[in-house]
Amino acid sequence: MINLRLKNVKNASNIIKGSEYIILNPNDYKGKWNKLFGNQNPINIEIGMGKGDFIIEMAKKNPNVNFIGIEMFDSVMVRAVQKLENQNLDNLKLIRMDATYINDVFDREIDTIYLNFSDPWPKKRHEKRRLTSHEFLKRYDLIFKGSKNIIQKTDNIGLFAFSLQSLSTFGYVLNFVTLDLHQTKTEDNVMTEYEKKFVSNGVKICMLKATKKA
Ligand SMILES: C[S@@+](CC[C@H](N)C(=O)[O-])C[C@H]1O[C@@H](n2cnc3c(N)ncnc32)[C@H](O)[C@@H]1O
Repeated sequence: MINLRLKNVKNASNIIKGSEYIILNPNDYKGKWNKLFGNQNPINIEIGMGKGDFIIEMAKKNPNVNFIGIEMFDSVMVRAVQKLENQNLDNLKLIRMDATYINDVFDREIDTIYLNFSDPWPKKRHEKRRLTSHEFLKRYDLIFKGSKNIIQKTDNIGLFAFSLQSLSTFGYVLNFVTLDLHQTKTEDNVMTEYEKKFVSNGVKICMLKATKKA
């Protein structure tokens, strides 16, 4: 069982390394991502992209926006890589990394950050690990190009309440807040893997859109 798991992880790692979508040396592109994409279109990132349904669909629907998906585990990211086989999306790249080190990879070049169903880290002592904690917001401050845009979806009301407070005390203005996304009229919501499961089980989805001036 353990050997099988190790083998799977090794295979995942090899599959990821062979994908044209994966950037293996992301630090080399710090401040140069527009050059890599070959255009000056906005760059939006998703932190914790999981198996990639959201970022892949967003890239297909918005050819004039560049997307970068970030995920820390090979075993999850490999699913996104497999979905991308035989697809031709010039506006999508993927990075396998822990977002804690995001400042090593980006420099004032990001337009929007998507946080979809991020781990809630419910224990108080783990607060700093939440992707909307002030620790992370300070890191994000250094990667935005102009105005700072964060869009979050979650089923977790505790994380959502924390995010609303954390973002507003950090200078963000909340432009859109709902506690039940699927009962709210929104233009073109793209669902994530977790969202699809939650919605089919009748779980309500919270969403916020927050902006901070440059
Ligand atoms: C609950 S899953 C949600 C996946 C996907 N966004 C969705 O909505 O279906 C959270 C994902 O975030 C990833 N993640 C958590 N913390 C991260 C971090 N600091 N850096 C990169 N990825 C992270 C986890 O590995 C996991 O795949």
